[in-house]
Amino acid sequence: MTESEPVNRPLRALQVGAGGMGRGWLRTIQAYDEVELVGVADLNVATAKAALDDAGLSTVPVAETLEQLADEVAADFVVDVTIPEAHHAVTLEALRRGLPVIGEKPLAATLAEALELVAASQAYDRLFMVSQSRRYNSQQFEFRRQIQRLGRLGILAAEFFKAPHFGGFRDAMDHPLVLDMAIHAFDSARFLVDAEPVAVYCEEYNPAWSWYAGDAATTAIFEMSDGVRYVYTGSWCSEGLETSWNATWRASGEHGTALWDGDSLPTFEVVEGRETGPEGDHNLVSEWFRPHTGSARLGPPPPPHQGIAGSLREFVHSLRTGSTPMGAASDNVMSLAMVHAAIESSRSRQRVLVADVMEKAYAQARERATGPVADALARWTSLTPPG
Ligand SMILES: NC(=O)c1ccc[n+]([C@@H]2O[C@H](COP(=O)([O-])OP(=O)(O)OC[C@H]3O[C@@H](n4cnc5c(N)ncnc54)[C@H](O)[C@@H]3O)[C@@H](O)[C@H]2O)c1
Repeated sequence: MTESEPVNRPLRALQVGAGGMGRGWLRTIQAYDEVELVGVADLNVATAKAALDDAGLSTVPVAETLEQLADEVAADFVVDVTIPEAHHAVTLEALRRGLPVIGEKPLAATLAEALELVAASQAYDRLFMVSQSRRYNSQQFEFRRQIQRLGRLGILAAEFFKAPHFGGFRDAMDHPLVLDMAIHAFDSARFLVDAEPVAVYCEEYNPAWSWYAGDAATTAIFEMSDGVRYVYTGSWCSEGLETSWNATWRASGEHGTALWDGDSLPTFEVVEGRETGPEGDHNLVSEWFRPHTGSARLGPPPPPHQGIAGSLREFVHSLRTGSTPMGAASDNVMSLAMVHAAIESSRSRQRVLVADVMEKAYAQARERATGPVADALARWTSLTPPG
């Protein structure tokens, strides 16, 4: 379907990937009456069958691959919940078949692959949205509004300390924290300060007791386009007194400070009489997902749908209306650029310009891409991909 085609029935979803997160998507799709699950593909068919059985959906067709199911089930869109290394192939195939995609973060395993997928979304004229699920959090929206009351912002700091024992692909990744988790906090920083990353200095390291093969801890200092310094410190092997999965945050502006512990309502304090804003939302989010207008001091805001339930609703809304969702791949790619710039800085032990990392990835994408995707890439006049 095209983005604004009117369809007066639930939209048919074909889900690819039925591992840990795939099970969450099955539950989320089941709970949303605007979407109907018509098939599940997983290279491990037994995994797909077990997930469907557990969800009480045993009659839903399964297969190993998207290609095997796509013709049979006449889906309206694809949910890509495969491992990061498979995102490129699965999403490209779906878009090529004319199917819009909502995909799990990260957008792709490399920045070059990500740019190719942004171009594929343009070439085939189908929406590709990344489900950056931690954006869909009413407390974070409130924190953003509070930050706007602090006057000119100077510093944004996030701390993330947890100790999950996952097993599986994360334990073997080269950059488990930065690639798989910090992307959420990097994406939140862009959202919170409404600015794009300019440069980063980052160190990744692996504490002596870490059970990860790759670096499980990091500190990164980003310069944002409005001059704000965003400092992220995180560890994925820190037992005891853990932070929220959303990290804990401090924003420091010319008139005051705002704090968010990631799990409860944020608070802020400004010098008396100096409070500014908030200034509205610059059409940053789609009409459907406008942030609430309440204040933390007046009690909890009306809860928008949280997590992947929120991103799925915004995706469906965009398919039905043609609006641009927050997680449109052309926007989300800048969060992934922060990740890869941080990794490059850590590797080279140098401050790295995000534009340089984007430029290199763009050259690689142009070398890799073929057909309409290559043509779309060739039309770009700026390395901020057109939305
Ligand atoms: N938003 C969040 O908070 C959050 C949380 C966890 C995971 N994730 C993301 O979700 C994605 C999946 O993570 P997971 O924990 O479920 O991984 P997982 O390893 O548990 O499951 C991935 C599944 O995809 C299948 N698969 C891989 N390649 C495939 C292909 N080409 N075609 C069909 N099936 C394929 C595998 O067989 C496996 O069953 C990752 O991108 C991860 O970063 C997001």
